[in-house]
Amino acid sequence: MAATPPHRAPRFLQRHVADSAAERAEAQAALLGRPARASPKYFYDRLGSHLFEAITELPEYYPTRTEAAIFAAHGEAMAQHAGVGATLIDLGAGNCAKASRLFPLLEPARYVAVDISVDFLRDALARVQREYPLLDVVGLGLDFSHALDLPEDLATGRPVFFYPGSSIGNFTPAEALAFLRNIRAQAGGGGLLIGVDLVKPAPVLEAAYADALGVTAAFNLNLLRHLNRLIGSDFDPARWRHVGLFNAAESRVEMHLEAREDLTVRWPNGQRSFAVVERLHTENSYKYRVDGFAALLVQAGFDAPVHWTDEQGWFAVFWAGAA
Ligand code: AVI
Repeated sequence: MAATPPHRAPRFLQRHVADSAAERAEAQAALLGRPARASPKYFYDRLGSHLFEAITELPEYYPTRTEAAIFAAHGEAMAQHAGVGATLIDLGAGNCAKASRLFPLLEPARYVAVDISVDFLRDALARVQREYPLLDVVGLGLDFSHALDLPEDLATGRPVFFYPGSSIGNFTPAEALAFLRNIRAQAGGGGLLIGVDLVKPAPVLEAAYADALGVTAAFNLNLLRHLNRLIGSDFDPARWRHVGLFNAAESRVEMHLEAREDLTVRWPNGQRSFAVVERLHTENSYKYRVDGFAALLVQAGFDAPVHWTDEQGWFAVFWAGAA
């Protein structure tokens, strides 16, 4: 009689507990700044997450499909650097699709999917476990943009961090360096596989962040509804216009919401008036040059990185070892 393989089920650990009072205070203070700001984390409520999925399907939004093509073309070479049998730590795992496509090449011993809430991971990890019944699967609810402290029992094995999608671009370069240092401190014996969007002509960048169908506009405007729920404000999305532009001096695409008319937004104990065309800054998406990002990885303490790119040089995936 054939031996029955041991039955495994995903484990879930929730580390991040939202402090709603602190979050509300932070969001209100940002709205009162000059210029007014709102954190891009407020894009991602339920509708916003669907809108982001839709963005990744747009012809103008090249990063997702370009990165996928780089993984498809160079996955074997990446696996030679990363090695098999690692603990694969997927930062911002979401539906876990990008990492699980690499499983046949990376053959991880353990897969740790990290997202802000384990609830985002339950269905995806159940699917992963069904497909890979012997894999040690862990879902970790952690706000790693604040602190990336992995539970000690997960730190066993050789850690390979996976951070695709060019989300590193949503940090300022100084924040990105601190974040990479933090990963490096926990990656000893392994390394980091990371996707990075590159500088390219402004019209290509601006089309990617202000698409013809207005999906990115809806994604940006939806943040106002999320803020209304969070702080009890009365933002009316119809009175705002989406702006996506490339700031070449800062090497970043900026997203703003621009007031279509003079208006006042009110919330319990506060208000902010906006003059027509005044802006609320919602996101930066930094674009790197290959040499600049490689230098950042070395500055963060990684070994000399290698990278793979597409024919047009629009996107790069780096492997940075941490001996
Ligand atoms: C999640 N992040 C990498 C996206 C980006 O391109 O900066 C978010 C996004 N904003 C507008 N479109 C997509």
